[in-house]
Amino acid sequence: MPKPLQNWTQDERIEAVKSIFNTITPTYDHMNHIMSAGRDIAWRRRMIQRLPEGNIKVLDIATGTGDVAIDIKWKRPDIEVAGIDFVFRMMEFAQQKTRAQNLAIQYMGGDALHLPFPDNSFDATTIAFGLRNIPDKFAALREMQRVVKPGGKVFTLEMTFPRNLKMRAFFTWYLNKMIPILGATIARDKKAYHYLAESIQEMIHPDTLSALYEQVGFQQIKATPLTFGITYLHEGTVA
Ligand SMILES: C[S@@+](CC[C@H](N)C(=O)[O-])C[C@H]1O[C@@H](n2cnc3c(N)ncnc32)[C@H](O)[C@@H]1O
Repeated sequence: MPKPLQNWTQDERIEAVKSIFNTITPTYDHMNHIMSAGRDIAWRRRMIQRLPEGNIKVLDIATGTGDVAIDIKWKRPDIEVAGIDFVFRMMEFAQQKTRAQNLAIQYMGGDALHLPFPDNSFDATTIAFGLRNIPDKFAALREMQRVVKPGGKVFTLEMTFPRNLKMRAFFTWYLNKMIPILGATIARDKKAYHYLAESIQEMIHPDTLSALYEQVGFQQIKATPLTFGITYLHEGTVA
């Protein structure tokens, strides 16, 4: 019986996250689309639609296999996009996908808690399905705030537990029973998908995330539920 997530130390969690994403890289995109019944594509698009106008610079944090960065480039070729992640194997896939589509995105290795950029480097940051894997969410938001210019935007897209009780009951069954089975059959890694299912259930409540945005000092904070509140899009403006 694996140890419940809340009993892990921060270091144990970070090491597990690195190892999990390093292992599941080849099936990650496919599993994402199956697990979310294709909704993950629409959720990322909702975030991209909220990006500020103009020739802006965007950093996609925890970029993984690059789906946010790539979609930004398709929708807004004028935007200069960089992607960062601490699992190189995920970004190798991102690079292959980017090259195959003839797009220009700069990928680099790095930790969301220590972004290798000076203050005020970007007009916006995005992070999709990454924040729940970062134990110190306050520090992560502070770091995003640091690299974004005043007036710029910080976006978080994250799955969470729906508030509607019927949806919640279905989602509990789906996460705890179906996802590990799908993980075992498609990705051949039940343990990794057990972690991913647990990390969604353990993700802080959307209101708590809004409160964190406030605590960090963002303005015009907005939290938008997507697909019955299974996923939330948070945004805040840097003061
Ligand atoms: C669920 S994947 C999301 C990938 C991508 N954003 C997407 O929309 O599919 C989570 C990613 O977060 C990365 N990650 C987790 N913690 C990180 C950290 N502290 N710094 C950088 N990347 C991190 C993992 O390596 C993994 O690639």
